[in-house]
Amino acid sequence: MTYTEKDQKFKRYTVTSALPYANGPVHIGHLAGVYVPADIYVRYLRAQGEQVMFIGGSDEHGVPITIKARKEGCTPQDIVDRYHKIIKDSFAELGISFDIYSRTSSKEHHETAAAYFKKLYNEGKFVEKVSMQYYDEEAGQFLADRYITGTCPHCGNEHAYGDQCEACGTSLNATDLINPKSALSGSKPVLKETKHWFLPLDQDEPWLRQWILEGHKDDWKTNVYGQCKSWIDAGLQPRAVTRDLDWGVKVPIEGTDGKVLYVWFDAPIGYISFTKQLKGNDWEKWWKDQDTKLVHFIGKDNIVFHCIIFPSMLHADGSYILPDNVPANEFLNLEGDKISTSRNWAVWLHEYLKDFPGKQDVLRYTLCSNAPETKDNDFTWKDFQLKNNSELVAILGNFVNRTVVLTHKFFGGRIPAQGTTNDLDNEVIAELKTFPERIGRSIETYRFREALAEMMNLARLGNKYLTETEPWKLFKEDPERTGTVLNLALQICANLAVLCAPFIPFTADKMHRILCLQALGWKDAGRADILAAGTQLEQPELLFEKIEDAAIEAQVNRLLETKRQNELNAWQPAAVKEKVSFDDFGKVDIRVGTVLECSKVPKADKLLQFKIDDGMGGRTIVSGIAKFYPEPEKLVGMQVCFIANFEPRKLKGVVSEGMILSAEDKDGRLVLVTPSQLVTSGVNVG
Ligand code: 2FM
Ligand code: ZN
Repeated sequence: MTYTEKDQKFKRYTVTSALPYANGPVHIGHLAGVYVPADIYVRYLRAQGEQVMFIGGSDEHGVPITIKARKEGCTPQDIVDRYHKIIKDSFAELGISFDIYSRTSSKEHHETAAAYFKKLYNEGKFVEKVSMQYYDEEAGQFLADRYITGTCPHCGNEHAYGDQCEACGTSLNATDLINPKSALSGSKPVLKETKHWFLPLDQDEPWLRQWILEGHKDDWKTNVYGQCKSWIDAGLQPRAVTRDLDWGVKVPIEGTDGKVLYVWFDAPIGYISFTKQLKGNDWEKWWKDQDTKLVHFIGKDNIVFHCIIFPSMLHADGSYILPDNVPANEFLNLEGDKISTSRNWAVWLHEYLKDFPGKQDVLRYTLCSNAPETKDNDFTWKDFQLKNNSELVAILGNFVNRTVVLTHKFFGGRIPAQGTTNDLDNEVIAELKTFPERIGRSIETYRFREALAEMMNLARLGNKYLTETEPWKLFKEDPERTGTVLNLALQICANLAVLCAPFIPFTADKMHRILCLQALGWKDAGRADILAAGTQLEQPELLFEKIEDAAIEAQVNRLLETKRQNELNAWQPAAVKEKVSFDDFGKVDIRVGTVLECSKVPKADKLLQFKIDDGMGGRTIVSGIAKFYPEPEKLVGMQVCFIANFEPRKLKGVVSEGMILSAEDKDGRLVLVTPSQLVTSGVNVG
């Protein structure tokens, strides 16, 4: 056990993971940044025998949910019901081991959040301010947060929101935006008076400075500390904690109809209200006892809310503990591009679970080994395949399988006695002893990639031991020595079953089953006598299967299709060219002609050769549309428009006397332009 001195003062752990907005499913970016590391952390703590409360739930308020409901013609409650279920079920299937996964639209949450606000209000902890806020006169509504868009004053992004610019990450007030526009009606909003309650963050600066900048300089991650420092150094401003909206927790003060708590005020209170919802649980000890360690797992876009605003709310109440750490991760990209819900550029958890049934651990492993702990990182399907095939299958799976298969082959599946160990065995035993502490230390300091790599190093050690001792060659000559080697290899397997459990719990369960292991704690690991000689093992079972190219190609193709769709969706008509005079236009002689013959130009993939009845004896025109008309003979009889006074040009040996008009659709398809009714060949178009 390796707890730092500091940790010894804690008796229990309250671990929260950011509440995902229930306006879409969860994707791999959320998982790698928040839920997989949080789950590893709590599984490890539980294995250490610690008391842990792991809290999760859906964030069901906020403007994006109401915007989505409006778009779909349903209620916000319909939206959150749909996504809460998808999110909750998929987390459970991935083995994210929450003690409770609740939701902020629940009655209990509304009551807790309202009471929290009311207490601070009664104690005069808010500043009441009448201010000018944007109002959409067409929609008859104040425009909070994402109901308003405009240009970011910091980076010039034209699609910044009233509360935040996603391009530069700056948190904004709607009145900071240049050229504000209502997201409801598209109209220019007007400023109108309204009253709101503000958390006076400016007054919190001294203690925040001391608590974070002095107190957590060494133990908070540099990205987290750095963001806090720049916020505090820039000077904290009072922050409005109410909004003019009708979706959310109603402001619990008389005469405030049409006002709700700001989503970022109520959501973190969810951590508390969900703890309360666990029946028979003394919730206060998880939130108020000084010997409880509070840790928030979040993504980097949530840092300010968890390090400054929520602590300021907790401090204002006065009876709560503050977070001991906020291990925020950076972002995960997908195939080199930013993950985006609106562009559907994501790997959605519920879809992954459908496409790769039983492969929860492969995703958990890949996301942890590639977690964006110190910088943004990239997920690629190729890498996913490689991590599965070359690491899980080839290193961990292979070691455990070889060991169990050989034990069955030589000893009928009964664990042989350890017998006398030699120098090599003793070295391996000594090294084995160091792993629980090495892995544990990395987890305790939120270095999950490093912890996972250490766990795999133990499997590597096992493989190396088998390669060096070659038990498959030994048995005939020296069955006793073979027994020793397999006993030790099995002890390594048993250790792996314990030490891999926080990362890949489904595999750990399988290993426990195969090895007939009782549930063991972290403290049991490191020993070379976990398994008793004589125990009968279960039949070997592959821990992992190879992932074939076809499965990966299917995923990559899906993404390529998404990209194509996005490009189509982003299509806009080309800018109108410079003005031309009527006379200039008149110089272009456009006519209607009837196709008499049409065929491919030999040795030219793209070209069709038309014989056109132009009312003047006929002409030949070559056009580059072959790809779009694979059966050119079917065009005979069709009328087309062509430019009759084009300079003749020779194309692949054929002289073209004009140009046939076609429209280019947004996907690049060329379509012939044809009159809507039959007309006489040779008439003018204009
Ligand atoms: O960024 C988000 O997805 C927020 N819904 C996180 C909320 S975390 C907490 F404070 F509730
Ligand atoms: Zn910006």
